[in-house]
Amino acid sequence: MAGRTQLPTWRALETHAAELRGRHLRELFADDAGRFGRLAFRELDFLYDCTRQRLTPRTLELLTALARECRLEARIAALYAGEPVNHTEHRAALHMALRNRSERPMFAGGRDVMPEVRAELAKIRGFVTGVHEGRITGVRGGRFTDVVNIGIGGSDLGIVMATEALGRYRNRGLRLHCVSNIDGVELAEVMERVDPATTLFVICSKTFTTLETLSNANAAREWVLAELGEAAIARHFVAVSTNHEAMDRYGIAPDARYTMWDWVGGRYSLWSAVGLSIALALGMEPFELLLAGGHDMDEHFRSTPLERNLPVLMGLVGIWNQNFLGLESHAVLPYDRRLHRFPAYLQQLEMESNGKSVTRDGKPVDCDTGTVVWGEPGNNAQHSFFQLLHQGTAPVALEFLAPVQASSRFQAQHDLGLANCFAQAEAFAFGQTEAQVREDLAAKGIPDAEAARLAPHKVHAGNRPSSVILFPRLGPRTLGRLIAWYEHKVYVQSVVWDINPFDQWGVELGKKLAGPMAPAVERAAWPDGPPHVRGLLEAVRQWRHD
Ligand code: F6P
Repeated sequence: MAGRTQLPTWRALETHAAELRGRHLRELFADDAGRFGRLAFRELDFLYDCTRQRLTPRTLELLTALARECRLEARIAALYAGEPVNHTEHRAALHMALRNRSERPMFAGGRDVMPEVRAELAKIRGFVTGVHEGRITGVRGGRFTDVVNIGIGGSDLGIVMATEALGRYRNRGLRLHCVSNIDGVELAEVMERVDPATTLFVICSKTFTTLETLSNANAAREWVLAELGEAAIARHFVAVSTNHEAMDRYGIAPDARYTMWDWVGGRYSLWSAVGLSIALALGMEPFELLLAGGHDMDEHFRSTPLERNLPVLMGLVGIWNQNFLGLESHAVLPYDRRLHRFPAYLQQLEMESNGKSVTRDGKPVDCDTGTVVWGEPGNNAQHSFFQLLHQGTAPVALEFLAPVQASSRFQAQHDLGLANCFAQAEAFAFGQTEAQVREDLAAKGIPDAEAARLAPHKVHAGNRPSSVILFPRLGPRTLGRLIAWYEHKVYVQSVVWDINPFDQWGVELGKKLAGPMAPAVERAAWPDGPPHVRGLLEAVRQWRHD
């Protein structure tokens, strides 16, 4: 099959982009008074405002035509039908089954997975309720006061992001701590804060082979053994994994094992038993509402025409910015502190999925793929990196997210945050012309010569594109919808780029190389290793005992 850039719709988009590239957002707004009506979408209690993107309704027509030419509708159907869309691992990608609230069966490998999914959810419910009600206790009979989730990547980021985002639902009697990094810092700090007799450990690892997780889990196990004795392991440790032998070896009691399936990718797994820690921290009701929100977006994605389908629109706007306007970096800026880990969550979701350079049939891609995603809570970001976004030379596309209702009791303060959010979006779009700057300076009585000197520093070119995503409030159902929105956006982009978003061979390479490196660092020597690595090890040898 010809590369994507050879498609007639791709070419039409290039021509269209060449026409639009010279046009400022100021002109696009001046040309079309009805821009908001045409480029802001109200779906599922979201307002997705694309008016400040450097595009027109015609751009969206061409982009949806491109999506159709890439057979997006058929590929969405294939995803939901449980076809092996992750073809390098011969797996379906059926995370939608985990949040399927309908009676419809969902098939992976020809088998309806819904009975198993429901059984696992019932098991989670039983355990979480038992812990919350104090029926399930530690080995000394004390109620659990702390949960420590040990996991990394998809076995950590979603848990941290969701429990922070939904912090106001937190169960006050049960604190959650998340340990991911291999260096031991988090674990050591948690050990200082918790009492092992009332601490429950959740070892969360799809494969149960991940070095970071196993080393933290082993250290935690040693600690509990030393403090509480052998009998405590079965009472204080539960695990979530597809690897039952490894859970056996670790000593996880049979009824303390929670399963996952190979048709759930790590970065799509918070809806599975990986969400056990979310349910422990927040309660079953918010967790199930989160699932319901994910399902709402699944229904929207599978059945809404491309022209007003949120994940499709978001994916296509991203493609427009990256492939046709050359904006390779994408900043996500939530105006709600509770979403402070949302950009980090999206980094794994988007970059681990779409960071690929061969097509599904193994040929080099002929266009850029995989956007660089980064971000921070927008209000803090205003006082750090926004300067570069306003007046620097790096081209960045922006995405503002904000609930209308405050996530704290300080609505008036939140309103100030919202005002900042809207003001920033306006400033990025319209900038400040030299004439405006001069007028401003004159009004302040600045002499002409000084105004002429200052003006170039104060001019803001504007034309920096952004979307604004507004929603009523940040609750579990909305969060579920939001996460699933981005998940499906990633799929849409992968279809247009013709890549597999569900494998991650690049990460696997790093894991493989860490194998021989671990004993070399331990001994601070690698006689057969490459000289440049031996140089590093020599420094380790010298400084280890300094
Ligand atoms: O970072 C690579 C990765 O494989 C992710 O996809 C995954 O979420 C993470 O490692 C953790 O893997 P596991 O859950 O198997 O420990």
